[in-house]
Amino acid sequence: MNLLEQSINTIKKYQTTYGSYIASPSFSQYLYCWFRDGSFIADAMNLVGENKSAKSFFDWGMRVISSQEERISKIVDRREEITQEELLPTRYLLDGRLTLDEWPNAQSDGYGTFLWALARCPDREFIEEHRDSIELITHYLEKVWKIPCFDVWEESEEAIHTSTLLSIAAGLKASETVLGIKTVWREVVDFILRRLTANGRFVKSTSNSGVDSSLCWASAPFGLFDNENPLVINTVEEIERTLVFDGGAKRYIQDTYYGGGSWILLSAYLAQWYAGTGQIEKARAVMSWIESNANQNGELPEQVPEHLLDEEMYRPWVERWGNIACPLLWSHAGYISLSKELSRKS
Ligand code: BGC
Repeated sequence: MNLLEQSINTIKKYQTTYGSYIASPSFSQYLYCWFRDGSFIADAMNLVGENKSAKSFFDWGMRVISSQEERISKIVDRREEITQEELLPTRYLLDGRLTLDEWPNAQSDGYGTFLWALARCPDREFIEEHRDSIELITHYLEKVWKIPCFDVWEESEEAIHTSTLLSIAAGLKASETVLGIKTVWREVVDFILRRLTANGRFVKSTSNSGVDSSLCWASAPFGLFDNENPLVINTVEEIERTLVFDGGAKRYIQDTYYGGGSWILLSAYLAQWYAGTGQIEKARAVMSWIESNANQNGELPEQVPEHLLDEEMYRPWVERWGNIACPLLWSHAGYISLSKELSRKS
């Protein structure tokens, strides 16, 4: 069995009967379903024809949104200011109930990614059936996109983050297509262009002018900007210069989580951009790097502890939460999407 088949099997194996995808079955902090991870995973499953799995996740997401309808409607209708504490959580229990812990949950990107992935789902009937919930979450994002929240790495809640806004813009744009309504996605993109660029490239956030590898989502996979857009090219060059080591991409330069290793999923999205710009050999090299990091069961970790940004911070995290999460379903999703992109190109 090759790693593509193993990846599909791993995802299927750990999808629950509720439809949710567990982030990682072997890591105590990740025994939940995230809107962000789940949506990227469902999209990858769609790409390889596993529509049943994807649809079952979307069903789960729709149930979660319906269960929170009152809360979301109140926010949408509110005239007064909305606070960060009121934002919807990023992760839920596997059966869709709310968690009651202190996790930095206020994160808006996952709902954008959810809408983006959903719109790529070929089942129009399903979309019609859930029209009201899709509309509700669309209006919710239109209302809250400018509120600072935890970023895609669940950090820096004081800032507005570019990859969060990219996810939201992608979701709102997708909603325009599926619902046939106008949204503010262009306003979000304009904000990115005005406030979240410098030196001809994207910056990580309103409080960090460096890069983050998730910035390549601007084109791969969200397609909000052309692959050849100078902003994208300059951003990728800066990512390569500061964050890529032997095929593996770091999240951002100050990262100390497990010492700041190289992330499989980020390397995979970057390699999708290589494939999209005709740099096939480079994309293949990343693919081989990913394959070389699968364990004997064909499982991929979240990150590989090599070329650590801060060696001293590796052990403290292992002592705190155990070994690096493996398998991480989102890593498998990144690998699947990259394989598809490469087979489309060759
Ligand atoms: C990452 C998130 C991810 C979560 C579950 C966290 O460590 O920062 O991006 O959603 O793990 O995989």
